[in-house]
Amino acid sequence: MEIIETVSGMKRVCREEARAGKTIGLVPTMGYWHEGHLSLIRAARKRCQVVVVSVFVNPLQFGPQEDYQQYPRDFSRDIRLAKSEGVDYIFHPSAEELYPQSFKTEVEVRELSNTLCGKSRPGHFKGVATVVLKLFNIVRPDAAFFGQKDAQQALIIKRVIDDLDLDVELVILPIIREEDGLAMSSRNLYLNPQERSAAAILYKSLQKARELVRGGERRAPVIISRMKQMIEQEPLARIDYISLTDADNLWEVDSIEGKVLIALAVFIGKTRLIDNLLLDVSGA
Ligand code: PAF
Repeated sequence: MEIIETVSGMKRVCREEARAGKTIGLVPTMGYWHEGHLSLIRAARKRCQVVVVSVFVNPLQFGPQEDYQQYPRDFSRDIRLAKSEGVDYIFHPSAEELYPQSFKTEVEVRELSNTLCGKSRPGHFKGVATVVLKLFNIVRPDAAFFGQKDAQQALIIKRVIDDLDLDVELVILPIIREEDGLAMSSRNLYLNPQERSAAAILYKSLQKARELVRGGERRAPVIISRMKQMIEQEPLARIDYISLTDADNLWEVDSIEGKVLIALAVFIGKTRLIDNLLLDVSGA
């Protein structure tokens, strides 16, 4: 396993591997890996001959009041995991390497970026789209692997790939959960023990929504209000948003029909957590 810190070095090895006829899988991460990341790496390992994982806490996707400085980092642990998962290359550039002083370009995906998490985190998805496009250009992967937990991010990246005619297959893998249902996230580290047990409320509210839909409820406002009631009973929780949208374009829906995304963001103490559930009720 090789650790590469420069754009030119990463480009060189990826071009060599591609010239040798190998397929390249890219797993973009911000490090501090958990089982969710490992599931992406394992999927890449299965599908591609060369696996590149980037570890880069991207300053462009953090707002000025957000947790860029505190974001958990443990590169030595990531390296150990990479070795045991059979990763071929870790791309670990500095912020100056990816964004030199002269850097001016940003990638903006209109509409999709301004709803749900984009409302509470202005500029966040511009930062994500920009860094992901850079990573795609540097690595030129055949396939790139992302998690469904960041459902909006996945849709935005799909839009970038389609709109800019990139030759990358996008592979989205299911959310990996803790035993009580909490979606795995590096930010779970911020939770104290009380907050950690309160955090299970996100998944519980999604289960409630699924139960209501299974029971025949189709009215989005009713489902949202039942989820809200449930979360509001948890004293450590503060809702940022709960949204029912069309799963492809993120437009709010009034009634559940076809592929619907139920997404929410909730503060548990000071930590903002997200989760979602995809439902397909076509003909059901
Ligand atoms: O999902 C993440 O960890 C980040 O948003 C990503 C895709 C690595 C871009 O920085």
